[in-house]
Amino acid sequence: MDASRFLADHIVSLPKSGIRDFFAIVSQMKDAVSLGIGEPDFVTPFHIRDAAIMALERGHTSYTDNRGLIQLRREISKYVAENFAAEYDPETEIMTTVGVSEAMDGIMRAILNPGDKVIYHEPCYVSYAPSIKLCHAEAIPVETTAEDKFAINIDALRAAWQPGTKAVVLNFPTNPTGGTASKELLEAIAKFAIEKDLLVISDEIYSELTFEGVHTSIVSIPGMRERTIFLHGFSKAFAMTGFRVGYACGPAPIIDGLLKVHQYGILCAPIVSQEAAIEALKNGKPAMLEMREKYRERRDFIVRRFNELGLTCHSPRGSFYAFPNITRSGMSSMDFAKGLLQAERVAIVPGTAFGKCGEGFCRASFSTSYANIDEACRRIERYLKSLKV
Ligand SMILES: Cc1ncc(COP(=O)(O)O)c(C=O)c1O
Repeated sequence: MDASRFLADHIVSLPKSGIRDFFAIVSQMKDAVSLGIGEPDFVTPFHIRDAAIMALERGHTSYTDNRGLIQLRREISKYVAENFAAEYDPETEIMTTVGVSEAMDGIMRAILNPGDKVIYHEPCYVSYAPSIKLCHAEAIPVETTAEDKFAINIDALRAAWQPGTKAVVLNFPTNPTGGTASKELLEAIAKFAIEKDLLVISDEIYSELTFEGVHTSIVSIPGMRERTIFLHGFSKAFAMTGFRVGYACGPAPIIDGLLKVHQYGILCAPIVSQEAAIEALKNGKPAMLEMREKYRERRDFIVRRFNELGLTCHSPRGSFYAFPNITRSGMSSMDFAKGLLQAERVAIVPGTAFGKCGEGFCRASFSTSYANIDEACRRIERYLKSLKV
C-alpha cells in the first residue's frame, strides 16, 4: 500500500526545491560546466579548518549550551556591533544555529500562528515561502524588477500589506538577483514596519560580499532593533557551507522563543563548527576580502559577457549571482535552461525556481573559476547562435 497516505496535507502540497531537481540531472553529466551552485568554490581558509582540527584534537566532541558556546556568542556580538551597528547581549540575545536555514525556519515557527501572513520579496531564496507555509501561515510575495535593480519598490510593499500581516522578510544582497537596498529604501521600509507594527526578519548572509558602497543593515535604523531579527552565517563570506553554522540576533523574548524550537529540534550546532566559527570571526577577514576580490573580477567579466551576448544583465552590487534576462531567446526560463544543459552542458538555474516573477531570467553563479565562466559563456554564445535569434 502507498505509504504517502501518512503524509500531512501541507507536506504533500509543498513542492520540492526546483534547484535540487535540476542539479540531480547535472551531477549525472560528464563535462558539464556548472554556474548553478549557490556556494563558494573556495575551500574554507586553512586557519579556520585548522581551528576545527584542533577542536577535534583536543577532544571537543560534546554538546554545547543550546544557544552555542559563550565564546562564540561573544565574538558574534563584537562582530555584529562592529559591522552592522547593533549591540546584542551574548547571554540573552544571540542564538547559534545550524546555518541561516535553521534560523529562518526556527524563527518562523517561533512567531507564526496558523493564518498569520508574512511578506517577502521575490525572486528570492527558495526556503522563505516553504518555511512560512510549514507553519500554516500565508506567504505574500512582493515582485521586484530589473528596472529597480531588484530592490523593493516601497509602494508595492505597502500595497502587499493585509490585516494579519505579522512580519516582513528581507534579504539584501539578494539571492538570486544580487539586489541591494540603499539606506533611504531601508528607512522607508523601517517606517512602514513601525507604522504597521511588523517584525522584520533580515537575512544578511551575503552582506560581506557587497562590491560597491557599504552594506547597511535595517537593524541600525532608529526604532528597528526592537523589531528586527538579524540572521547571518558563515557559509558564504567565509566559505563554510559544510560546517553548517549561523546565528540569529534579536530581542530576548523572541530569541527565547527560538530557543524552544531549537532546543527540542536541534539541541545545538556542532561544537567543531562553532570553534571554527570563532576563528573565522577573529581572524577571517583577510581571506574573506581576498575571496570577495575574486568574486568582483568574475562578476565584471560575466556581466560584460552576458550583455555582449544580448542577455541583458545588471551588475549585481552584492552576492555571487548574475541574473541575466534571457527573453531574447524567445523561450521560457525553464526551456532555456534545460535546452542549454542538453545542447551545451552548461548548468544555470531558471529564474522561476525563485518565484513566478523570475520568468524571463536565469541565475548564473560566479562562485566558480574564471576558466569555467569563460567556457560557459562560449557555450552559451554557441547555443544562442544555434537558436538563430
Ligand atoms: C539568501 C540565503 N539565505 C540562507 C541560505 C542558507 O544558508 P546557510 O548555509 O547558512 O544555511 C542561503 C543559501 O544559499 C541563501 O542564499
